[in-house]
This record gives sequence, structure tokens and C-alpha cells, in this order.
Amino acid sequence: MTLDELLAIARQLEQDGLAEIERAGDAPALESVRAGLLGRKSGRLNDVMKALPALGSDDRRVAGAEVNRVKGALESALEARKGALAPRAAGPRIDPTMPARRQWRGSRHPVTLVIDEIVAIFRELGFTVALGPEAEHEWYNFGALNFPPDHPAMDAHDTLYLGEGALLRTHTSPVQVRALQRHPPPVRILVPGNVYRRDVFDPSHAPMFAQLEGLAVDENVTFADLKATLTRFATRFFGAAKTRFRPSYFPFTEPSAELDIACQVCGGTGCAVCKQTGWVEILGCGMVHPRVLESAGLDAERYTGWAFGMGPARVAVNRYRLPNIRLLYDSDVRFLEQFAR
Ligand code: PHE
Repeated sequence: MTLDELLAIARQLEQDGLAEIERAGDAPALESVRAGLLGRKSGRLNDVMKALPALGSDDRRVAGAEVNRVKGALESALEARKGALAPRAAGPRIDPTMPARRQWRGSRHPVTLVIDEIVAIFRELGFTVALGPEAEHEWYNFGALNFPPDHPAMDAHDTLYLGEGALLRTHTSPVQVRALQRHPPPVRILVPGNVYRRDVFDPSHAPMFAQLEGLAVDENVTFADLKATLTRFATRFFGAAKTRFRPSYFPFTEPSAELDIACQVCGGTGCAVCKQTGWVEILGCGMVHPRVLESAGLDAERYTGWAFGMGPARVAVNRYRLPNIRLLYDSDVRFLEQFAR
């Protein structure tokens, strides 16, 4: 065999060998490829090496170097293929160069935050939290609260009736009567809860919304207590914001009023939230009507009281200077997660 022939055989072996290594589909197949190429007895490279002694010494050196190079190339290809075929380590494979996934943080809804904060302020004044049912008797929702039988709010247009004298409460005021029936005065309670009205969803109305009711009943309670307590609450909650009471009407309070605060979104200069008036109504209030006290079985000559009903969503709009009340109902996580603490 001439040197050229031997070199040609060695290079052919290299080419064929690399292709066989690449084709080996699993570890046993790769092992038999290795034995066929480099095995001590039957390896094809061995056959080539056996031809070396027959060459002249110069040719032998050239051929020997080439055979070694081919051997090295095949060995490293075998090693690489072995790594590629190695079974993956058990458990998840971790790529430490991946950026970490952002932590998901839940948060309280802004309306809940507002309710909690208001409850905390009134708690300092001796108020505790009371709850009542959302599915309510007509009598508690209307009759006990001195609504005349023909009052427009009792119309099916505003109220979601459940049948058999039951309805979804349209306000939290029925809990006034429930609380007074169960606990003799002095009573000082706050009632957070959802209420329902047959309104279509628009920028300023929702068919379900939260209310926060307040009630204080005792001997010698006067309108001065109402005014002092609610003014103190407003300054505690809104800081130095200006407030004003306006006369109003509710069947279950007499006299009745509404409490406005200077719009916190525009600072009182006029914007879409305050409908350009500079003022935002945050609650209705008044002295509990004697007929309501009597509905609950109390002596209206002995006891007097005051009550208020607030819309915490409205308050949240002002507290957080939200451009639109709908943000509170859209459940957009990008908005809500800003309230995570
Ligand atoms: N219940 C009234 C409403 O839904 C609010 C209110 C409560 C007014 C208590 C006076 C006293 O609008």
C-alpha cells in the first residue's frame, strides 16, 4: 500500500466514522459504532495502523501523524455525541440566565381599603361593625323605613324583586331596624355591604355597589352630634378639605341632609368628576325618623338618633383622585395591583 492510498483510506474512514457517530440514536448504538471504528481487535482504524510498518520510515511518520489526527477527531466526536445522548438529569432543568418571573401580589380593592379606613376612624368614636342580609324583606327595605306605599323607589324599575315579599336590598338602611330590634340603645354601628338597583351600567351607575351605613341611637342624641361626628370624620379622612351640609329628603330621616366635600380631583375648581360644581356629595344623613324607631319597637319619645349612608366608591374616587369611577368595576389588574402594599 502506498502512502497516498493509506492517507485516502484514513480520510475516508474519518468521513464515514463521523457520519456513523452522528447517526447513532442511543448509547448502545454509539458504543457499537465506537467499537467498529476504534476497537482494539476489530476496529477499522486498527486495520489502517497495521499497514504502517510496511511503509518507509519518512512515509510512516507522515501516515502515523494522519492516523493519530483521525483517531483524535473520531474520539472527540464520540465524546460530543455521548453528551448529547446522555439522559437528562431528573427534575426541572434550571436556566440561571433567565430573568426571574415577576412576583404576583394580591391587593385589597380600593373600595375595601376606603371602608376599612372609615371603619377604623369611627371605631375610635365607639362604633362597631354590624352586617345584614343582601336578600331582604320588603318590609325592612321600605315599610319599616317609613316609605309611603306609592314611593317611586319601590317601583320594579329601581328594585330587583325576588318574589314572595323578598328583594335585593336597595340600600343598607334596613340594617338600622334589624340592629335596633336586636340591641337596645345605646347603639353605634357601621354597616358596610353591597346593595342592588335596576340600573344599567354607565359611567356613574352600577347595578351593584357598596354602601356604608352609620347609625347612632341613644337618649339625648341631637343634630349637633350628627354634624360634629360627620365633620370630624371628613377632616380625619380627607385632611383639610372643605365640607358643606345641604338640606335633603329621605323618608327615614327628618330633618335630612347631604354632606359634600370640596372635589379632591380638581381641588374645587370644577372637573368631570364633580360635574363642574367643585363639590362632591359623599353621603346622605339625618335624624332617624320617629316612625323608624317605632318600627324597631323603641320608644321614640325616649330615644333619638342620627344615621348616614355613604357610597365608598365615590369616596375612593376622591381619595385616590381617580378620573373615572368605572376603574373600580373593570377588574383591570394593572389598575388594582397599584393598591398592593
Ligand atoms: N339609604 C340612603 C340611600 O341609599 C342613604 C341614607 C342613609 C340617608 C341613612 C340618610 C340616612 O341613598
